[in-house]
Amino acid sequence: MLPVVLLSHRGPATFRRTPSGLTLKRGAGGLVTALMGLAEHLDDAVWVCAASNAADSMVITEHEGHSIEIAFSPEMHVVDDDTVGPTLNVRYVEVEQERHEAFYTRIANPLLWFVQHGLYGLATEPNITAETHEAYEFGYVAVNKQFAEAVADEVGRRGGKAIVLLQDYHFYLVGEMVRQRCPDAIISHFVHIPWPSPDAWRVLPVQMREGMLRGLLGCDVVAFHTRRSARNFLSCALDMLDLPVDFRAGTIDLGDRKVAARAYPISVDVDSVETLAASEEVAAHRRGLESTLLADSRHLIVRVDRTDPSKNIVRGFRAFGLLLDQHPELRGRVTFLASLMPSRQDVPEYADYLAQVGGVVAEINARHHAEGWQPIDMRLQEDLAFAVAAFQLADVLVVNAVSDGMNLVAKEAVLVNQRDGVLLLSENTGAHDELGDFAITVQPFDLQQQADAMFEALTMDRALRHKLLGGAADTVRGNEVEQWLRSQLDDLMEMKG
Ligand code: G6P
Repeated sequence: MLPVVLLSHRGPATFRRTPSGLTLKRGAGGLVTALMGLAEHLDDAVWVCAASNAADSMVITEHEGHSIEIAFSPEMHVVDDDTVGPTLNVRYVEVEQERHEAFYTRIANPLLWFVQHGLYGLATEPNITAETHEAYEFGYVAVNKQFAEAVADEVGRRGGKAIVLLQDYHFYLVGEMVRQRCPDAIISHFVHIPWPSPDAWRVLPVQMREGMLRGLLGCDVVAFHTRRSARNFLSCALDMLDLPVDFRAGTIDLGDRKVAARAYPISVDVDSVETLAASEEVAAHRRGLESTLLADSRHLIVRVDRTDPSKNIVRGFRAFGLLLDQHPELRGRVTFLASLMPSRQDVPEYADYLAQVGGVVAEINARHHAEGWQPIDMRLQEDLAFAVAAFQLADVLVVNAVSDGMNLVAKEAVLVNQRDGVLLLSENTGAHDELGDFAITVQPFDLQQQADAMFEALTMDRALRHKLLGGAADTVRGNEVEQWLRSQLDDLMEMKG
């Protein structure tokens, strides 16, 4: 197996300074799980990522910018003489603060995220100004260069031959830069968020959208969670750069080589979700929720999300308000429990959105509240054990995203639910391709349809609910997260013989 060099903005672990010294905290997300699961089969793997706090930066200085070897068990720790079992090298890259701000809070998260999730109201937004152009050059382009150098350096240390796995919308320019420096590397870029049609990209200035597309075409494979995104990517190559595209084969012809667009739907680590679901910590949360929100055989609608405008939290609450308007018999009988993790609050668009969420909750709770009952119970927190307890107890789980690359909440929830809960799943999520047959499909902009879907779910026959939930859980068990990474690596190895 060739060495693997992986790049993502968030790393697999962050350092923390404690009274007893530096410790490591594992990062969230499927990528860490997938790579940890495969690490024992990889001879040599290094994960390049951004330093995210002062403790990470200190470690970079101590190691003079080189990678650090980390072991996974029993808990994540820096390798020492007693370490047995698989390890992974992590290379933290320090980005100068102002540059990082331009890259993250001006380009990646408002502009790219909003374009790719279709979040702009185009009559008034976005306004591309001289500052945007500057943030692109000074932030996005420069940060991409910095990471491309780190990746190329790691490939070089491995003799120039490695599989390079680039991740997400933060690094669209890296593929081409690495190819120039490492012509023998096999490069893949996984885009975890939706890739929209060519027209949607026309919101961005031509040099940005074409520059990013050309950057991606430096790879051998550009991968997505859905075939729809892969097709849109091929259409962009045809429409924006007039390149010959074979839609059936999923390839773009660059003359001397071909770039493939592929779909690999990511999943969750079934074992770790089920182990957490069986823990005492989750049971304690469950008991708490049962004795409060589920007392007197009440029902529970649940959502768990980052407070991201793409998640469509405001419309979800408005639909619930409509449900209570139209079915007054449900007042006092059903609570909407929302566990929401504040996200990207340094980006103004995200801070505004969280304020809007707070406003709509206050409005609906004021309009409908009754003695001993509050319609929406919103908790701003990051608490995985609480989320899993809520998944277990949900009668209805709402995933009504405007658009979502995959959505792992839907997959986790159906694995652990104990009440034959019904999944309301947006047609614009990647997860809908796999779970749509076992869910009530919701159209993210249609409040009435979402309210009707909530009513249908709350009144659905138990046998049907049981069948749908079983089908969804079996589907998730049939495609685990390790498979996601393994099949990509197998395909990349095969490509180059
Ligand atoms: C999405 C993106 C990831 C990102 C995560 C959290 O899942 O695809 O790349 O890391 O959101 O966002 P944050 O900006 O907090 O890293």
